[in-house]
Amino acid sequence: MNKLALRDLDVRGKRVLVRVDFNVPIEERDGRIAITDDTRIRESLQTINYLREHEAKTILMAHFGRPKGQPVTKYSLRPVADHLHTLINHPVIFSHLTVGADAEKIIASMNDGDVALLENVRFQAEEEANDPRFAQALAKLGDIYVNDAFGAAHRAHASTAGITKFISQSAMGFLMEKELKYLGGELEKPAKPFVVIMGGSKVSDKIGVIKALMEKADTILIGGAMANTFWKAQGIPIGASRIEANKLDLARELLEDAKAKGVKFLLPVDALETEEFKAGARKRNTGRVTDSHGISEGWQAVDNGHATIALYEDEVANAKTILWNGPVGVFEIPDFAEGTTAIAEAVAKSHATTIIGGGDSVTAVKQAGLADKMTFISTGGGASLELLEGKELPGVAALTDK
Ligand code: 3PG
Repeated sequence: MNKLALRDLDVRGKRVLVRVDFNVPIEERDGRIAITDDTRIRESLQTINYLREHEAKTILMAHFGRPKGQPVTKYSLRPVADHLHTLINHPVIFSHLTVGADAEKIIASMNDGDVALLENVRFQAEEEANDPRFAQALAKLGDIYVNDAFGAAHRAHASTAGITKFISQSAMGFLMEKELKYLGGELEKPAKPFVVIMGGSKVSDKIGVIKALMEKADTILIGGAMANTFWKAQGIPIGASRIEANKLDLARELLEDAKAKGVKFLLPVDALETEEFKAGARKRNTGRVTDSHGISEGWQAVDNGHATIALYEDEVANAKTILWNGPVGVFEIPDFAEGTTAIAEAVAKSHATTIIGGGDSVTAVKQAGLADKMTFISTGGGASLELLEGKELPGVAALTDK
């Protein structure tokens, strides 16, 4: 990566402004906010601890939810500051104002090695508008800028991109570097066979990614409701399954593309079908699908069937590089989770470089208790997809070139 990295900088005694992605899932319990998954906060610790060890003053900036440019109590970062305190074993100074005289006063009183967190940058409409005055007010709070918020790097906002115009050195944090290495560099020339597992509900969400990966993958395994659209495009009966009716031509085009490029593009060969989309509903395996036999009239496909599970397991077992994005069934309902769990287990067992490309597949891997068996799990959602599509991320492009 030809961008400045945190380890290239002399940070001792400096005020280092770090953009992190603390956009974590929360739940309200007895009137209090509880963080239900703190992975994104934990993944920022390498950068935060490095800065503390190197006696910098660390000033963290983050967004939280989508408060639409005004203060919203439930989107305050205060509970995150308290949680971070327990993780780094050091008080986290919280600034109720994101910029301005009060924030500046708090920062002026910091000692080397201290950590502060500014209130949600999205409490100001200027953040998402990438307003230069707001970017400048943020930049005034530090000497150096570090972007470790990979999950927000696809946003051209004041704290992710605009700020770099007002600060002399802007570098990648350790998490950002790792994400770019695995989702970018590592997949430039992947060890072969390179197997991609693409799930999720809509083909339209994944067109760009599928097209980009078609250039590099040996095998693409399709799953999730997206598979129904491909089935329908090929004339396989899909019963009452969900499809994107306006994407049938596109599905055909992708199948043609794969054939022309010699990519093994596999669709499920059977499915688990259910009469009703809910736990405890009647379900059964369809058996092999053909032009005349698919999902039963009035029933819907909700997971890979057993023949598909075995077929995909074989493909995964032979891979040297695996990228997985999106569940292959409705795994939130345990009755329909077998296919997704089987993928998680097969990927965990493989000796390949295994990359989990963000979003729901990450949840599935965690639910299966297999997160520590993967080479890399991305913290990004939209950002991972855009990077896999080969798009330039504004939060990365804005950093100082080496
Ligand atoms: C995410 O959760 O994917 C990132 O934090 C970005 O959030 P956003 O989609 O609200 O910009």
